[in-house]
Amino acid sequence: MKILGIETSCDETAVCIIEAAGDLTDFSYTVLGNSLISQTEIHKPYGGVFPNLAKREHGRNLVPLLGDVLRQADLLNEERAVEEKVVQGVERILDREHELGEFLATFLRTYGIPKIDAIAVTSGPGLEPALWVGINFAKALAFAWNLPIVPVNHMEGHVVISALSGKNNHLKFPLLSLLISGGHTELVLSNDWMHYKLLGQTRDDAVGEAFDKVARLMELPYPGGPEIERLAREAREKNIERAIRLPRPMIDSDDYDFSFAGLKTAVRKVVESSEVKVEKFTMMLAREFEDAATEVLVAKTMRALDDHGVKTLVVGGGVSANTHIKEALAQAVRDYGLDIDVRIPSRDLATDNALMIALAGYFHAQKKEFAVPDSIRAEGNLKLAY
Ligand code: KG4
Ligand code: ZN
Repeated sequence: MKILGIETSCDETAVCIIEAAGDLTDFSYTVLGNSLISQTEIHKPYGGVFPNLAKREHGRNLVPLLGDVLRQADLLNEERAVEEKVVQGVERILDREHELGEFLATFLRTYGIPKIDAIAVTSGPGLEPALWVGINFAKALAFAWNLPIVPVNHMEGHVVISALSGKNNHLKFPLLSLLISGGHTELVLSNDWMHYKLLGQTRDDAVGEAFDKVARLMELPYPGGPEIERLAREAREKNIERAIRLPRPMIDSDDYDFSFAGLKTAVRKVVESSEVKVEKFTMMLAREFEDAATEVLVAKTMRALDDHGVKTLVVGGGVSANTHIKEALAQAVRDYGLDIDVRIPSRDLATDNALMIALAGYFHAQKKEFAVPDSIRAEGNLKLAY
């Protein structure tokens, strides 16, 4: 089955085509085309993602990305297959997505219908104006090419791509997912593939959000995660003295919840009270912050692994690109002597991409879990688990 995946929930516009077969016990897939445009540079001056700017950029990027992945997949042909009447229908669907409507109409008048079986699109969680662009694009394409649509939960995409980034697909259950991104910090338990139960979550800021806000306090560019990681690594390499101690919020609490707002406030106090802001100070602070966040994530994850007899640990979301956090989790599992399969994606698959949406979409498409296009809506706060 060939699936086209579309992701526009935040500041990455991404499109991917996979060919997949089998169920989890006998699953295989090939990436036929995969392309992404990051808007980081555009949002940088604002110190965060600016929703309406993200919306405009997604509208501009989607059609060129679609052309790109179809070309990679060798699915682009120049037979005139879409009738003018249909193209006009597409223009009506994309009435409110101005540039996107024009770009797609031109594309459909130029190229024929590719052999694809379904479209998977992120419907939430994320920034609603951004999500709508992807959803409307999917609806228009589904109409033009007569294809079914699977709406995908972005967080499920993170789980699926991380779970499948191992040596094999023989996943053992119970499986615990630690989901750490710009909008989420959650521990989710699965007793079966694609069934989720929420064990705990952040009570305030997400860990990625904390990385970004702390970076801003330290006058580092957006996105803050990679910047803090770089400085913290330098502090460790240079053995810079540790003169600051930040709190480890909720590390000993008898639950699986997190809290990162207090940690951010503690950093603010340190930044405001210190007169010297030499590079050494910034490195030391970045390291202490990264250590504090890591220790809390590791402690809560170990508690959940232990309490639930977990056999597979999956770590997903943008923050799982962080080497220190990855290594600390893997080390903790070894130190506890636990026989647990730890699955963490490579850096480029940890952050948002469309492969994760195509993969999650495939498992739903296989079960024919398609949605009536008109019923698909952007859900900014869509939950994965309760
Ligand atoms: O999953 P993602 O790409 O988008 C969301 O769904 O939110 O995650 C983005 C988040 C940002 O907060 C970013 O600062 C963080 O992931 N991030 C990192 C690193 N790379 C990205 N945080 C810590 N260390 C990193 N290397
Ligand atoms: Zn994400």
